[in-house]
Amino acid sequence: MPIHIRATAADFAPTVLVPGDPNRARFIAEHVFDPGARLVNDERGALGFTGTYRGVPLSVQASGMGCASASIYYSELAGLGVRRLVRVGTVGGLAPGLRMGDLVVAVSATPDDGMVLQLTDGEAHAPTATFALVEQAVSLARAQGLRHHVGPIVSSALFYDPRVGIMRRWQQRGHLAVEMESAALYTIGAMHGIETLCVATVSDLITEAGSERIDDATLRSAVEQMVRLGCDVAIG
Ligand code: HPA
Repeated sequence: MPIHIRATAADFAPTVLVPGDPNRARFIAEHVFDPGARLVNDERGALGFTGTYRGVPLSVQASGMGCASASIYYSELAGLGVRRLVRVGTVGGLAPGLRMGDLVVAVSATPDDGMVLQLTDGEAHAPTATFALVEQAVSLARAQGLRHHVGPIVSSALFYDPRVGIMRRWQQRGHLAVEMESAALYTIGAMHGIETLCVATVSDLITEAGSERIDDATLRSAVEQMVRLGCDVAIG
């Protein structure tokens, strides 16, 4: 049994949603999964649940924030034999045209965190989503008429980043948004032959003038839509 997920392989479905936030994990289990999901992990409050969604077995496990925390959960889930991990998160929007509550489908995650190079022992690696999952997320978003953006994001080690102009330079190099986990997700997935994708809701808009935060009601409804799309991709 792993150290941070106090559960066995039999406790998890082959596909696991991996939000950062334990409260989001609970929300997904209680309001998005079919009724009857059961708690499979509560070690350190990193809640994990297993149930079904549209009749298909599905789990959710909170990862915490940042590649350092998330990599522990992704690695332990890999050790438990899971085959697909779908991150359902939030991102800070960088690209012009992004609005609060928009959906971002992350094709790749530039690692601005030492973790990826440590995982590959210094060898270059481009953390990349599984194309079939990208394709499915995009076609669902299109079919549902959701405002969505598809492209690269940055996984930063820092939420409060003191480097002047870094957000602008990331944006100028084509990144849609910044968050803190997907580079580890895509790298650990590649190392273990696990399918991975991050879909995320824009919860902040970052410009030269500063950062603006989404209001709670808009966040709640946009996250619920994004999570349902994540579940549909997960079971697809
Ligand atoms: N920065 C990093 N990660 C984030 C942000 C942000 O502004 N918003 C949501 N996740």
